[in-house]
Amino acid sequence: MGATLFSPLTVAGTTFPNRIVVSPMCQYRAIDGAASDWHMIHLGQFALSGAGLVMIEATGVEAAGRITPGCLGLYTDAQEEALARVLKVFRHVGKMPVGIQIGHAGRKASSHVPWDGGHGLAEGEGAWTIVAPSAVAYDEHRAVPEALDGEGMRRIVAAFVQAAERAERIGLDVVELHAAHGYLLHQFIAPLVNRRTDAYGGSRENRLRFPLEVAAALRAVWPEGKVLGARINGPDLLPGGATIEDTIAFADGLKKAGFDYVCVSAGSLIGGQRFEAFPGYLLPYAEAVKRETGLVTQGVGMIVDPFLAEQSIATGQVDMVAIARAFLEDPRWVWHAAEKLGIAMPFPPEYRGADPAIWRGAAHRPLLCSEPGTTAEAMRTASAAT
Ligand SMILES: Cc1cc2nc3c(=O)[nH]c(=O)nc-3n(C[C@H](O)[C@H](O)[C@H](O)COP(=O)(O)O)c2cc1C
Repeated sequence: MGATLFSPLTVAGTTFPNRIVVSPMCQYRAIDGAASDWHMIHLGQFALSGAGLVMIEATGVEAAGRITPGCLGLYTDAQEEALARVLKVFRHVGKMPVGIQIGHAGRKASSHVPWDGGHGLAEGEGAWTIVAPSAVAYDEHRAVPEALDGEGMRRIVAAFVQAAERAERIGLDVVELHAAHGYLLHQFIAPLVNRRTDAYGGSRENRLRFPLEVAAALRAVWPEGKVLGARINGPDLLPGGATIEDTIAFADGLKKAGFDYVCVSAGSLIGGQRFEAFPGYLLPYAEAVKRETGLVTQGVGMIVDPFLAEQSIATGQVDMVAIARAFLEDPRWVWHAAEKLGIAMPFPPEYRGADPAIWRGAAHRPLLCSEPGTTAEAMRTASAAT
């Protein structure tokens, strides 16, 4: 039990010590796009997490591509230096690979941070011009974006390339292209949002064209032998939206472009979209992508229970699991998962006193997770019943 979740995986010459990824999580605490002391503490806590890969949050490749004024950017020297400082401190403690997700928010840019409502910034609040494949607003709380022309698209490709070059300079191990969650590249893929009539809209081939151009440009600069991946969405789950066939075609295009992995997520294309979420609810989409493309695939989405994580890897559904909120709530998720799955995981000697193998207080902790044999379907039924 637990042998697969805790087994190493080598991808493009990089070895992840286990299959557990700290999922990228926006913190909205950057200052002019530069990592702050918040990032030092937030990311720093994961240096001790025991995860196999720690991903840095969605990071804008140009100022206009940030979701909010608090989002990280990687388009100035000051931002590069600030991130290098965080990484340097992290590496003193954390020996696992570290990656960064780079993206462009497109029509979802220029927004308030979530705890201020997340709506579009108004004029006088520092709003900036937003761009998208087509002039279609995200919702009634956002401005109508400008439709990108060829020059704008070339500028954005160049911005992705420069961000990857900066990531390489500061020694990051993984670059992940953010092509999910209704941000710019997903906006191109999604027929509900992309209304273009040129070579970048209409047919699937046309809608995938710009994201795959960005992908090819990234592959050209991100060194072979360093991991390059993408976060993509499963189906849009909306009438007339992108389908799982679109997802698979995109993943296949990424594979042909030389990408090493995909993480299959969902949602956030249009304002107000709701769908049922339950433990492992996105795994079937990831499984389909892995099966059809053979790409190394990460699953994500309410993976909290270590037994579910183990099962998803052991059955070959996915190769890695990305975990977000469970890590915020419990930065020691990996240690607890190892304990539940019966895996011996050495504690750092400084923390040895808290190792359940020798700490009698461990018996008095609350039970954190379900018992073996709990399936995603059983949890789905339980969550539907409450
Ligand atoms: C605070 C927070 C910030 C997030 N920021 C990002 C992000 O920067 N990039 C991304 O692809 N997903 C982001 N997500 C989504 C998570 O990475 C993950 O896909 C989602 O939360 C589902 O996983 P979970 O059920 O384990 O939380 C964020 C989620 C949270 C909770």
